[in-house]
Amino acid sequence: MKKAIIIGASSGIGYELAIQLAAQDYQLGLMARRQERLEELSARLPGEHFVQITDLLDADKARSQLAALLEVMTDVDLIVVNSGVGASEKNLDWVVESEMIDVNVRGFTAMSMDAMNYFILRGSGHLVGVSSLAAHFSTGLALTYHGTKAYVSSYLNGMRSRAIHSKLPITITTVEPGFIDTPMLENRPMGTVPVEKAVSQIVRAINLKKNRVFITRRWMIVAGLFYILPNWVIRKFA
Ligand SMILES: NC(=O)c1ccc[n+]([C@@H]2O[C@H](COP(=O)([O-])OP(=O)(O)OC[C@H]3O[C@@H](n4cnc5c(N)ncnc54)[C@H](OP(=O)(O)O)[C@@H]3O)[C@@H](O)[C@H]2O)c1
Repeated sequence: MKKAIIIGASSGIGYELAIQLAAQDYQLGLMARRQERLEELSARLPGEHFVQITDLLDADKARSQLAALLEVMTDVDLIVVNSGVGASEKNLDWVVESEMIDVNVRGFTAMSMDAMNYFILRGSGHLVGVSSLAAHFSTGLALTYHGTKAYVSSYLNGMRSRAIHSKLPITITTVEPGFIDTPMLENRPMGTVPVEKAVSQIVRAINLKKNRVFITRRWMIVAGLFYILPNWVIRKFA
C-alpha cells in the first residue's frame, strides 16, 4: 500500500488532493489546524487514514507532530507540504506579514527538512512542495506572499540538487499554481481553474515524478515573461 502525508489537508488544494490520492489507493496522514475538517475528510475517504493536528506557527511542535505521524504510519512514500497563508497586504500590517513568513517559510522549511531527512534514512521517497506562480514576480499589494513563495521554489530547487547528489531515489517536486478556485482566493481573476482540475494535474505530476510543474501549464509562459518584460510593463498589469 502506498502511503502519503498531506500537510495542509483541511481545505482547498490539500483537501482535494486527499480525495484524489485516496482514490489511487493511498493511505493518508492528514495534517492541519482544523481537526473537525480533517476528521470529516478522513471519514469520507475510502480506506483507513490518520489525522494529526498541527499549527506551523509553532514549527518546533509541528516537527514533533510530523515525527509522531511518521512513526505511527511507518514507511511513508510521499510527503506534500501544502500549507500556506496568503493574505491581503494593503496595510503592511506586521501581524499579517509575520504569519505568512512563519507558515510559508519557517513552517515550510521545518516540514520539508524533516521530510528529506526521513527519506534519506528510509532510502527513498518523494517530497512535494506547493509554491506559486507568485515566486516569479512581486507586486506592491503582495510583497511578502510573493517573497515567501520565491523562497519555497528556491529552497526546493536546492533540495533537488541535494537529492540528486545523494544518489538515492528521492524526488523533489515543486508545484507552482496560478489561480485555483479555493478559499484562499479573495476574488476569481481571469484564468482561475476549478480545484478538481488543478489537483488532477498535480496528481499527474506526482505520478510522473516531475521536478516542477505549473498549474495549469499556460502559467509557465506567463512566468517566463516575468523574466523578459521590463518592470514598468509588469507593474502596469500585476
Ligand atoms: N489558490 C490559489 O490560487 C493558489 C495559487 C498559488 C499557490 N497556492 C498555494 O497552495 C497552497 C494551498 O492553498 P489553497 O489555495 O488550497 O488555500 P486554502 O484553502 O486556504 O488552504 C490552506 C491550507 O493551509 C493550511 N494552513 C494555513 N495555516 C496553517 C498553519 N498555521 N498551520 C498548518 N496549516 C495551515 C490550512 O489548514 P488550517 O487552516 O486547518 O490549518 C489549509 O489546509 C498554499 O501554499 C498556497 O500558497 C494557492
